[in-house]
Amino acid sequence: MTSAELRKAFLDFYVKQNHTAVHSSPVVPANDPTLLFTNAGMVQFKETFLGQESRDYVRATTVQRCIRAGGKHNDLENVGYTARHHTFFEMLGNFSFGDYFKHQAITFAWDFLTKELKLPAEKLWVTVFDEDTETADIWLKEMKISPERFSRCGAKDNFWSMGDTGPCGPCTEIFYDHGADIAGGPPGSPDEDGDRYIEIWNLVFMQFDRAADGTLTPLPKPSVDTGMGLERLAAVMQGVHNNYDIDLFKALVSKAAQLTAQIDLSNSSLRVISDHIRSCAFIVADGVMPSNEGRGYVLRRIIRRAIRHGYKLGQSQPFFYKIVGTLVEQMGEAYPELKAQQANVERVLKLEEERFAETLENGMKLLDEVMSNLQGTVIAGDVAFKLYDTFGFPLDLTADVARENGLTVDNDGFASAMDAQRERARSASSFGSGVAQRVDFEGHTQFLGYDRDEADSTILAIFVDGKSVASAAEGTHAIVILDRTPFYAESGGQTGDSGSLTEGMNSFHVNDTQKQGTLFLHQGVVTAGTISVTQAIHAKINLEDRRACEGNHSATHLLHAALRKVLGTHVQQKGSLVKADRLRFDFVQFEPISATQLREVEQMVNQKIMHNAPVEMTEMDIESAKAKGAMALFGEKYGKVVRVVQMGEFSVELCGGTHVNSVGDIGPFRITAENGIASGVRRIEAVTGEAAWAAIYAEDAALAQVAEVVKSDKQQVVAKITQVMNDYRALEKELKQLQSKLAASQGDDLATQAVKVGEVNVLAATMQGADTNVLRETLDKLKDKLAPAVIVLAAVEGDKVTLVAGVSKAVIGQYKAGELVNHVAMQVGGKGGGRPDMAQAGGNDPSKLDAALASVVAWAQSK
Ligand code: SER
Repeated sequence: MTSAELRKAFLDFYVKQNHTAVHSSPVVPANDPTLLFTNAGMVQFKETFLGQESRDYVRATTVQRCIRAGGKHNDLENVGYTARHHTFFEMLGNFSFGDYFKHQAITFAWDFLTKELKLPAEKLWVTVFDEDTETADIWLKEMKISPERFSRCGAKDNFWSMGDTGPCGPCTEIFYDHGADIAGGPPGSPDEDGDRYIEIWNLVFMQFDRAADGTLTPLPKPSVDTGMGLERLAAVMQGVHNNYDIDLFKALVSKAAQLTAQIDLSNSSLRVISDHIRSCAFIVADGVMPSNEGRGYVLRRIIRRAIRHGYKLGQSQPFFYKIVGTLVEQMGEAYPELKAQQANVERVLKLEEERFAETLENGMKLLDEVMSNLQGTVIAGDVAFKLYDTFGFPLDLTADVARENGLTVDNDGFASAMDAQRERARSASSFGSGVAQRVDFEGHTQFLGYDRDEADSTILAIFVDGKSVASAAEGTHAIVILDRTPFYAESGGQTGDSGSLTEGMNSFHVNDTQKQGTLFLHQGVVTAGTISVTQAIHAKINLEDRRACEGNHSATHLLHAALRKVLGTHVQQKGSLVKADRLRFDFVQFEPISATQLREVEQMVNQKIMHNAPVEMTEMDIESAKAKGAMALFGEKYGKVVRVVQMGEFSVELCGGTHVNSVGDIGPFRITAENGIASGVRRIEAVTGEAAWAAIYAEDAALAQVAEVVKSDKQQVVAKITQVMNDYRALEKELKQLQSKLAASQGDDLATQAVKVGEVNVLAATMQGADTNVLRETLDKLKDKLAPAVIVLAAVEGDKVTLVAGVSKAVIGQYKAGELVNHVAMQVGGKGGGRPDMAQAGGNDPSKLDAALASVVAWAQSK
């Protein structure tokens, strides 16, 4: 039966039983923020189950398009690795809204499978919720199914919920046995995750509404919700084991193969692509666009994953969108809404492909490099984060590549890198670090600091711990307000001045200056004598810091202008910090900046500094400033009169800060760091003057040191290191060869340690210094040599135990490698599993290894 015939047979069967056939709802659930995507047939009936909506029928049947890629039911990670998982699939379902219940639902399902489709009962297997004796009785006593093909399972498998909240209830599931030549055990057994027994139908007895706090409220009427995967049923009916071999997928896989020039149609990347085109096309058709959050991000993740699999097949040009036409040919009739949206879907997918193409290749280069230099098996969280942040790699995409290479990703490390970035973005979005201490005072301070570094002024007020005081004695921390001041108060990214207020023997040290409206707050501590309100004092800023600050501030303007010249006028200031020792500049930029571009920016700034244009500061009205082409900051509020800072023809900006007299005063300019701090925002850190020299000297010294370590000089160091690395790789290769030779010879010795259990050779041994590859190689050899054999090999590195187990073909029925490896792994603090003939595991307690290996003979005897 074709898939189309199956859809029809199912609907016809239930319509005959007085069900109303209802069309599939979109994959985006209507008005349901609790759910990312429609993940089951019951979703469109959620409110009917809850008794909040009534329909003019009490029985319904549907073929529902579903997405399981995110949220409670998520199969994205499994696609490409099993025969039966999809991000998009069609669910055949029948529903009773307070009409029939368990008995009838079971009878219908059993009749459809065994009478309508004529599937032999001996190929089916049934599970029930272990607390649901009523359902167990129906199956065993009334339906008289064999107790040998029946199991009771816990809530994890046999209690179904739509999401964290909503309708739910116990369920009973029907599995199909694809036969002994496929690995996997029956439901409820340790090997149940294999592909032999495949769940085809889930009958849910909807009885409760789950609240956010977990409480279950009984539904107004017990109901039925069943769901059967069309693709899985089609596989059964078409006599294939793998869903990707059914009619619906054939054309998609062929098209993907044609576009990526592949011959082997069973290539798992082709399957991933064929799966993903279905979900992506339907998600877009149902109105979602790729974006960085919510449904849009799930869509983006699936598209990018598909593109990466294309890349793996050597595809660097957009290809994914070209499969949409084939999909429409396959499914357009059943889903006219897809057909109607074809052009739009193609456009959206193509755009996303073009977008990702820009960073995919560089990201893959980085990832390949990291993987080939990796110690251990875990890719660091900050690498995954860099891939995410700079190259647009969703975390699951990186994890997918890792998994292909037998590696994992440090998810916690990724999460903390993400948190740290959010923190940086938060601090970048607000200018400066202003200590938000407010004082209660009416008045005004005149600012003299644009052209004076010191001045005589009068104390207007003193605040200690937020309270106004008449005077403050030595040791007191206070805020001092003057009638006029040369101190610059923090604003526009430039930090506030430090300095001193003195009168005779009395003095106040200013740590920082902040602004409150038109008041300047000098924050600091009385260092000698007493200061009092109305006292005349001499105010003097810390000149060295101020000059350094001015150099950095003027350099920031040059940097801003240079970035716009080199990268484009989309560059806009997002945040800025100007301190005496360094500057930091955050700006809009979507792509990473290349080393060449960065160098060009740095050179341009230095060139402008050498040309030594004067810095001119003029006050004018905002209109004239704009006419002059002054760069204003988006989102900043400006008064009527603004200050324009101009450096030759190169830079014109609105700015209230203080600057050098001519740009030559800045001295050398050096970029020390460049990275992304938020999506579309990058940060440059730089130093000027003395600090720039210090940075250059430090780099120079590091290079000299490297040269010394590799016994070369600065000029020859690159050639020398290249040579060292080549030698290193050659040695590494040689070492590998030696290791595997050694392993082979150890293998011969090990063979003599095998013990007979009946006819079978049982061997459990440790191999010194072997890695996973060597273990596997030796295992294969020993399996041949000792057959029939049951073998576990172990290796220890630090406190890490690696285990491989193998069982030769003839005795697979009796011994399972997965079970064996798990038996040993559990004793050394690990867990594992795998195929019946070959399995792998790890552990972290080598001290228990000898005993664990010694227990293998007894284990074999017990079988
Ligand atoms: N809602 C249940 C499931 O998705 C039955 O349709 O498995």
